[in-house]
Amino acid sequence: MLQDDHLTPVSQFYSHFKTAFTTGAFLKCTLSKPTAKAQADLKNVYLRPVEIKQALQLSFTFRYKTRDEVKNFGLEMGLSYLQTLLGEAFLHADFFSTTQDISLGFDKKGIASIQFKKASQAAPAETTHDRNKQRLLDPAAPWLHRLGITSAKGEVLAASQDKWKQINKFLEIIASVIKTDALPTDLHIADMGSGKGYLTFALYDFLSNKLGLTPHITGIELRQNLVDFCNNLSKEAGFTHLEFVAQDINKYHPERLDMLIALHACDTATDLALAKGILGQAKAIVVAPCCHKQIRKAMHTQNELAPLVRFGILEERQAEIVTDGIRALLLESEGYKTNVFEFISTEHTAKNVMITAVADARLKAQASQALAKVAALKSGFGIDQHYLEGLLAQNIA
Ligand SMILES: C[S@@+](CC[C@H](N)C(=O)[O-])C[C@H]1O[C@@H](n2cnc3c(N)ncnc32)[C@H](O)[C@@H]1O
Repeated sequence: MLQDDHLTPVSQFYSHFKTAFTTGAFLKCTLSKPTAKAQADLKNVYLRPVEIKQALQLSFTFRYKTRDEVKNFGLEMGLSYLQTLLGEAFLHADFFSTTQDISLGFDKKGIASIQFKKASQAAPAETTHDRNKQRLLDPAAPWLHRLGITSAKGEVLAASQDKWKQINKFLEIIASVIKTDALPTDLHIADMGSGKGYLTFALYDFLSNKLGLTPHITGIELRQNLVDFCNNLSKEAGFTHLEFVAQDINKYHPERLDMLIALHACDTATDLALAKGILGQAKAIVVAPCCHKQIRKAMHTQNELAPLVRFGILEERQAEIVTDGIRALLLESEGYKTNVFEFISTEHTAKNVMITAVADARLKAQASQALAKVAALKSGFGIDQHYLEGLLAQNIA
């Protein structure tokens, strides 16, 4: 434990802070005991190291009663900013590093005292990269509580564990799509059939607070009550560029679309969303289909699989495969590198197929091969038209 008795407690605190940050020993720091000078409803400020565009920054999370706000600074700017808060808006700081813990407190007269303790967190400092891998969202974010996923203390509720896993898996997939595709930092995203907004809020929080991007996200949802709820929550959370509109996907005409997502949008609503993404020239498309009624009704199997699909359950499974298989081929024919995979184990949800598509203009050269495969499948399964085909033929973005 290092102490510099000749320095004032405040100077000692900042000196240790700086050393820990530059040597990678800094873990986190919490500001507590807000004074009348703190902004209304501001309860705490949490500081941690964060890696943004390969540079280590000091990230401040301002925890208000109902929302979080994040600001990132370089070390010098960050420490200057900390000085405007500590001893002014907050009277106490708990600092944690791998070498020691420090508490700095101010009494009512503004006199500071410092305490050094053995490091309570013996683990080596996590790099932010590792931290991001482990935790894509902070479970203490107030919006998660308002959506009923976490308790007031920020613990994931037992009944919401499946939802929590789905959300995290979805964010991992988005992170890998973003990595492989050069999307702009102010990317415009539409979430079609956004429902109660679990994934929409998660995506906004993840892109802005973990990846340091400036996303503009619009949730499109038929049900007005859900849209009103989500817009209020977005305002409470301080998510400036997250909005929801009560509209049919079909009637939504975005001016700019970098990424389209649609998770479990019912039956052909997934096709409406895919068509919007393709015709709106989205660079990335991520959908998890829901039920597959259109193809099941349209299917009159005439190929060698006919003896298998006389059983209802097998016909249903086959309809799912044909629906999503043709969706993938149509995406390829439109110049998208496409993947279809199980995104989460069936123990968490039965609707676990995900289709991701990233624009790759070179693939357009193979459009006719993909369309020939679609024609052969339609003929074998006795299908007149896949709903997505009809939408693409109308060519209305
Ligand atoms: C099963 S929920 C999924 C909600 C959300 N994406 C999620 O994964 O938590 C499907 C939502 O899509 C909405 N929806 C279905 N068809 C739609 C359409 N044509 N336009 C807009 N919303 C639609 C429904 O109202 C419903 O809230």
